[in-house]
Amino acid sequence: MSLAAQTYPLLKSLLFRLDAERAHEWTTRMMRITHSLGLLGSEVPGEVKPVNVLGLTFPNVLGLAAGMDKSASCVDAWGAVGFGFVEVGTLTPRPQPGNPKPRLFRLPQHDALINRMGFNNPGIQSAVARLQKRKTKAIVGVNIGKNFDTPNERAVDDYLICLKAAYAVADYIAVNISSPNTKGLRDLQEEDAIRRLVSTLKEEQANLQKEHGKKVPVLVKIAPDLQPAQIEALARVFNEQGIDGVIATNTTISRVAVQGHPLADQAGGLSGAPVTQRSTEVIRAFRGLLHPATPIIGVGGILSGAHACEKLAAGAALVQVYSGLVYRGPRLVHDVLAATRSV
Ligand SMILES: Cc1cc2nc3c(=O)[nH]c(=O)nc-3n(C[C@H](O)[C@H](O)[C@H](O)COP(=O)(O)O)c2cc1C
Repeated sequence: MSLAAQTYPLLKSLLFRLDAERAHEWTTRMMRITHSLGLLGSEVPGEVKPVNVLGLTFPNVLGLAAGMDKSASCVDAWGAVGFGFVEVGTLTPRPQPGNPKPRLFRLPQHDALINRMGFNNPGIQSAVARLQKRKTKAIVGVNIGKNFDTPNERAVDDYLICLKAAYAVADYIAVNISSPNTKGLRDLQEEDAIRRLVSTLKEEQANLQKEHGKKVPVLVKIAPDLQPAQIEALARVFNEQGIDGVIATNTTISRVAVQGHPLADQAGGLSGAPVTQRSTEVIRAFRGLLHPATPIIGVGGILSGAHACEKLAAGAALVQVYSGLVYRGPRLVHDVLAATRSV
């Protein structure tokens, strides 16, 4: 176990005394410094097999979920921690500050977080410039969204701007239509809206493929709060349009699992242990409906190696973590890689 993993329990007790967003900023800064000093040891236990998914070779099945490194400021450090892939963003065409603070809350009794960050990010161009300089061997996904003040009728334009800007530097593109913190965003999951969005992006992907001489897969990230009929409609569109992959799931707007908690009524998306089961159910449902060759990235409430194995067993080809990292630290990377080694 690396030094970072061993010392995380102590570090966590200090970080948890800070406001959650400040703790996140401190951690990011510390990671950058320790990585630049060569002190961020790799977590990868021996004999982890690379996996071929989306036409790419992932060093391992574990990724960092979107939102942790919104600005692509720390990609090399995340790679050094042992992640096989890092999804940066969500990035929007123009920089935007996000919602007023506080906007990130811990619910430690539930191993959960509530966030309403609202796509605070430095804009796609800034992230692209950083990604051009990356050294990591980890696969990098670029998660894209729309600016908060772009009406849904023009949302497609924002996604197109981001797709074109990121194409040259991204290994894959994740189209985020499932954050609960941008008004109306989830309406893009409605059948006609998603058909229009995906068909336009697939068309542009074909143009960009010719221009750049490489195919960058386009995936869609969906919510856990979909009804069975909505899941069927989405899967129908994904199959018909030949989407390259699905990321399931984002945070939930449900509060059933945290009822009675003093922070339960905070607006935003709930993540961590309360979404573990629901996210796995959504993965299983999509696996039963999507073309067998369309991969799913499973995310939501992975707090142990066993949780990651459950997602893979439900039909995910790769997994990602966010909240689990806050509660378990770098040890989670080691545990997931050890548990999934033989799957
Ligand atoms: C503070 C925070 C910010 C997030 N920001 C984004 C984001 O910008 N884009 C996105 O697609 N998902 C975002 N997510 C969702 C995560 O990527 C992930 O889908 C979700 O948290 C479920 O995984 P988890 O239970 O491991 O956290 C965010 C999650 C958290 C907790």
